[in-house]
Amino acid sequence: MAQKENRFKRHTITAALPYTNGPIHIGHLAGVYVPADIYARYLRLTGKDVAFVCGSDEHGVAIPMKAKKEGITPRELIDKYHGIIKKSFEDFGITFDNYSRTSAQVHHETASEIFKKLYDQGDFVEETTAQLYDAEAQQFLADRFVVGTCPRCGHEEAYGDQCENCGSSLNATDLIDPKSTVTGGVPVLKETKHWFLPLDRHEGFLREWILKGHKKDWKTNVYGQCKSWIDGGLEPRAVTRDLDWGIPVPVKGGEGKVLYVWFDAPIGYISSTKEWAAREGRDWEPYWKEKDTKLVHFIGKDNIVFHCIIFPSILHAEGSYVLPENVPANEFLNLEGNKLSTSKNWAVWLHEYLEEFPDMQDVLRYTLTANAPETKDNDFTWKDFQARNNNELVAIFGNFINRVVVLTNKYYQGVVPGPSDLTTVDRTTLDELKRFPETISGSIDRYRFREAGQELMNLARLGNKYLADAEPWKVIKEDEARVRTIMFVALQIATGLAVLSEPFLPFTSNKLKKMLKIDQGPIEGLCWENVPNMEVLLRPGHQIDSAQLLFRKIEDSEIQAQLDKLAATKKANENENKAPMPQKDTITFDDFTKLDMRVGTILEAEKMAKTKKLMVLKVDTGLDTRTIVSGIAESFAPEEIIGKRVTVLINLAPRALRGVDSEGMILMTENADGKLVFVNPDEAGVGNGEGIS
Ligand code: 2FM
Ligand code: ZN
Repeated sequence: MAQKENRFKRHTITAALPYTNGPIHIGHLAGVYVPADIYARYLRLTGKDVAFVCGSDEHGVAIPMKAKKEGITPRELIDKYHGIIKKSFEDFGITFDNYSRTSAQVHHETASEIFKKLYDQGDFVEETTAQLYDAEAQQFLADRFVVGTCPRCGHEEAYGDQCENCGSSLNATDLIDPKSTVTGGVPVLKETKHWFLPLDRHEGFLREWILKGHKKDWKTNVYGQCKSWIDGGLEPRAVTRDLDWGIPVPVKGGEGKVLYVWFDAPIGYISSTKEWAAREGRDWEPYWKEKDTKLVHFIGKDNIVFHCIIFPSILHAEGSYVLPENVPANEFLNLEGNKLSTSKNWAVWLHEYLEEFPDMQDVLRYTLTANAPETKDNDFTWKDFQARNNNELVAIFGNFINRVVVLTNKYYQGVVPGPSDLTTVDRTTLDELKRFPETISGSIDRYRFREAGQELMNLARLGNKYLADAEPWKVIKEDEARVRTIMFVALQIATGLAVLSEPFLPFTSNKLKKMLKIDQGPIEGLCWENVPNMEVLLRPGHQIDSAQLLFRKIEDSEIQAQLDKLAATKKANENENKAPMPQKDTITFDDFTKLDMRVGTILEAEKMAKTKKLMVLKVDTGLDTRTIVSGIAESFAPEEIIGKRVTVLINLAPRALRGVDSEGMILMTENADGKLVFVNPDEAGVGNGEGIS
């Protein structure tokens, strides 16, 4: 592995450009950005030359659609979400060397140049074909402007360019029973001219590069999807659209048309690298064009075909670019058993998480890594989040560090003691410590971040067990010299943790380095590869700082608050989708006039003993004050409804409920959130006793 890695002089790491049509949530972090950041940080720590780039994906149909929904312009929309997304990445310690946006001029220029070069080389097919058209909205329908049944898997909500259920890349005309998402109407066919990338021409290259090349070390899901695509027969794909939002088609005849978002978005990686290089006074080209550059794309599984088939075909046709060495795509993360969904608000939004768990970025990074959907879809649950925090970060990692730092301060005023004779246990423990950098590297090099994160926790386990077994707090009474050795060994493990945790828990690693006073200078050469080297770990005589807690326990009530929030979202979604109650049988006008409904005021309210739902009310109906038993005790407290004006059916035959005669009925309904509410007469400004008609 090491030899193979050395082939590369520099690393270009890309993370999928998020659409600026909403904030980002835990699914984005788990699937793409945390693994990409672990990888980039690790490479930098091991002395590699890295360009880690990303940016906002601001074109495509999704943008004007969402802008319309929010009642703002597409420009306002992208500015709003670009800001929110960029801040979330910074807040979670995602260390992009550059975060750009596809509305940037450098990107428009770069994408246009590549398009023109392919056009000039004759790499496109220009064709006038019949495309789906919404006659009412007077616009062509592509991508998210149209939904229909996927011809490959039968999913009924496939988009015009892609089915998110099976990952297929589609042409809008492939959809069965297409429907416009603009007007809901059935589209007609209308002729229009577009430029197509003839993927069929690239089949030989793709076969050679992916199937016969060395791509067998790609993840099974990625290799499998590519193989099935190639074996299924590749077809030309339109790379332009009839839209007014995007990069104008830069060739003759392209007026009024723009580049397809999936043509320009991956080129965003190149533009972002250019922006970074210009700022840093460096040359961007080697990062994309030299054979000894390792290009790795971090993406979610719905992006596989674009990064493994379409973008490489574009780069290959262009002729001067390197191709990705690997595309470690993740599967999807679910939340409490259901698919994450922006439109259904079924998500943990990063900006909201930080309001509720301030300064706890590492806890989320750790949980998402421990449960990363690397080989199959995975579920995020709040209970698991709590358990990972309380049982691993607090009880193992935090506990170990706290003991080491507190005891070193207590026994030696924070000065690292010199060891005396090492016992077999000490030696074995130090030998084990030395193996961790290589073990963790091995997992990261194979994109197994879950495994790598667990190995890191195993190092904390090693330290925790060592201290628990050695019991320096007991030994101190009879053998002070032995305690010096124990603390020396434990401090070496703490130092190893400070260095090796950086890619996974960067905020914690920083705090720990400060505590151990290895955050600046005195310990030269303390880096990933040197962890096995005792000479550069904490030396006797080195002064450390006082202890501070790295993690805090998460209480059940905090988890319950999150679960309640999700339950409320679920209920709101159900209500939104709930069909209204069907109309009851028709009644005559005479039937209606028999109902005597009046406005009244609740004078007294008391929960009925031994029942959950019933409340006994005294109501002023304008005619009299009467007792009414109502099933509202689960929705209201008595004190909050006294004085409330309500609508009462007063000529309902009296009925005894649990021994109390009820003489009427209070009219209730449910609001949009499914909460029981009174049919409120205050809106009408009428007095008690007024009838309802
Ligand atoms: O799926 C998405 O969110 C896309 N915006 C990813 C684009 S990745 C790249 F090609 F830019
Ligand atoms: Zn499908």
